[in-house]
Amino acid sequence: MSSRIQLSDVGQTFLVRGNDDRQLREFVALDGLDLDIAAGEFLTIVGPSGCGKSTVLDLIAGLAKPTSGSLAIDGAPITGPGLDRSVVFQQYTLLPWRTARANVEFALEAKGGLSKAQRRERAETYLELVGLLEFADRYPHELSGGMKQRVAIARSLSYQPEVLLMDEPYGALDAQTRERLQEELVAIWQRTGTTVVFITHDIDEAVFLGQRVAVMSSRPGRIKEIVDIELDRSGAGDRDVRATTEFAAYRHQVWTLLREEHAPAQEKEVAHV
Ligand SMILES: Nc1ncnc2c1ncn2[C@@H]1O[C@H](COP(=O)(O)OP(=O)(O)O)[C@@H](O)[C@H]1O
Ligand SMILES: [Mg+2]
Repeated sequence: MSSRIQLSDVGQTFLVRGNDDRQLREFVALDGLDLDIAAGEFLTIVGPSGCGKSTVLDLIAGLAKPTSGSLAIDGAPITGPGLDRSVVFQQYTLLPWRTARANVEFALEAKGGLSKAQRRERAETYLELVGLLEFADRYPHELSGGMKQRVAIARSLSYQPEVLLMDEPYGALDAQTRERLQEELVAIWQRTGTTVVFITHDIDEAVFLGQRVAVMSSRPGRIKEIVDIELDRSGAGDRDVRATTEFAAYRHQVWTLLREEHAPAQEKEVAHV
């Protein structure tokens, strides 16, 4: 039910138009990026805006092909999108003319192999998992932002992908909804054993969710350092892990790595002007 993902020496170059002369030139987004994600791992990726986080996720999803290097899932090269991997994007991507339940069923229709009744049952199982069973008959415009994102997550989980790829999925949510969804996601991951790759620019979110936090550097984008996180996220005895000194130490470690990234990039931009 989960897969190992390996990226080795991955490079991604885009053709962009220059500001002054409008000539096409090569922009190196990723260069020499190595990353080995274990089956069943929860990995978070943080990095400055524009460092190539979404580019990495698109490559793992098979939505783009790298300029160089290789990507493999359980040893087989990634050649395109597949139902073994599912992506949750930052913006809500529900079909407005379908209810919450029908949005989840839609993914199952695409996958095939289930009867109408089985699809309905599966959709309800996953809506219940994200705490939305009683809202199954609502349309997206009748749901809050957080609920819509939970439907999108239920939809992604319902076809039981081996890999869940999440690109800043909670970026638009208020702090409290965000923390609750983080806790739900950890619980779901513990229950399903899915491999999760979760991108965020929020350090607390990265530390709270990840078994490892991969910190990216920019220009060119690659993995700068990986921080192992050992925290008890069970919430046992009403203990809020975010308030512990261990959590603060991890937050500071990741913050320091990111600060090193921000400083030189800003200098470069000033020098350019
Ligand atoms: N299709 C594209 N064409 C040209 N440049 C791109 C394209 N996609 C991304 N980029 C550039 O590559 C860099 C990394 O982008 P992205 O992966 O979206 O960053 P992040 O998600 O970390 O903010 C950015 O400078 C972005 O402008
Ligand atoms: Mg992005």
